[in-house]
Amino acid sequence: MKIWAHRGCSLRFPENTMAAFAKAEEIPGLTGIELDIQMTKDGEIVVIHDERVDRTTDGIGYVKDFTYWQLRQLRIDAGEGKREKIPSIREVLDFLQNTMAQGMLLNIELKNSMIPYEGMEDKMLDLVNRRGLQKAVIFSSFYVRSLERIYKQEPLISVGILDTNVSDCFYKKKGGFDGKDVSVALHPFWKRMDMTKKELEGQTVRAWLTGHLYPEPPTGRKLDLAQLECAGITDVFLNEPEIYLP
Ligand code: G3P
Ligand code: CA
Repeated sequence: MKIWAHRGCSLRFPENTMAAFAKAEEIPGLTGIELDIQMTKDGEIVVIHDERVDRTTDGIGYVKDFTYWQLRQLRIDAGEGKREKIPSIREVLDFLQNTMAQGMLLNIELKNSMIPYEGMEDKMLDLVNRRGLQKAVIFSSFYVRSLERIYKQEPLISVGILDTNVSDCFYKKKGGFDGKDVSVALHPFWKRMDMTKKELEGQTVRAWLTGHLYPEPPTGRKLDLAQLECAGITDVFLNEPEIYLP
């Protein structure tokens, strides 16, 4: 089972922050880090899960209504008097560049199914291509047209189709990408494996979970990864990857 850090190490550190990514980067054997992107009023791509800043920062409003400078004034409480800022994707790519060159992957989820951020795909492709990180990045989205746009421009870059049921990911893949048998992974919710392992043979299935984010305390419980593997899952996004990989 391949282990990913979901929004970084997001149980012990605030999700999608440099602190959460720095901790994830240190974990030996980690396959990759997952993060979410939105876009500011002045077109800067920033790393934050929600369309609004309210849940994770001391601000109020939509990311799309802030300039990048305004967004950087917001603070994320990281406990013990520490504060984090919303990172830009450039900052994260620069920070992880060396680790990615050594094989760690980065899954960038385009959060563009609620707000169709104009030009987000092209901006991201440009940033990744300039750094030569095509093979170290996987783009995912619930909005499959966005992934097709990326795939058409840069077939070297891997993409992952997000949905709840694995069967929906599977049919989106079949129905898209000009019907070509391209290397596109399925990213379903881990409890919605409504196809058999045999039906999923040959597919990369990266499952995501919900719940237990910083500042919630750890539960001490661990998932049975062997059971997930029997369901056809090849990779899993975890908020607490550090307890699975010593
Ligand atoms: O990429 C998998 C997963 O991150 C999708 O759900 O809400 O955590 O972005 P969410
Ligand atoms: Ca995500």
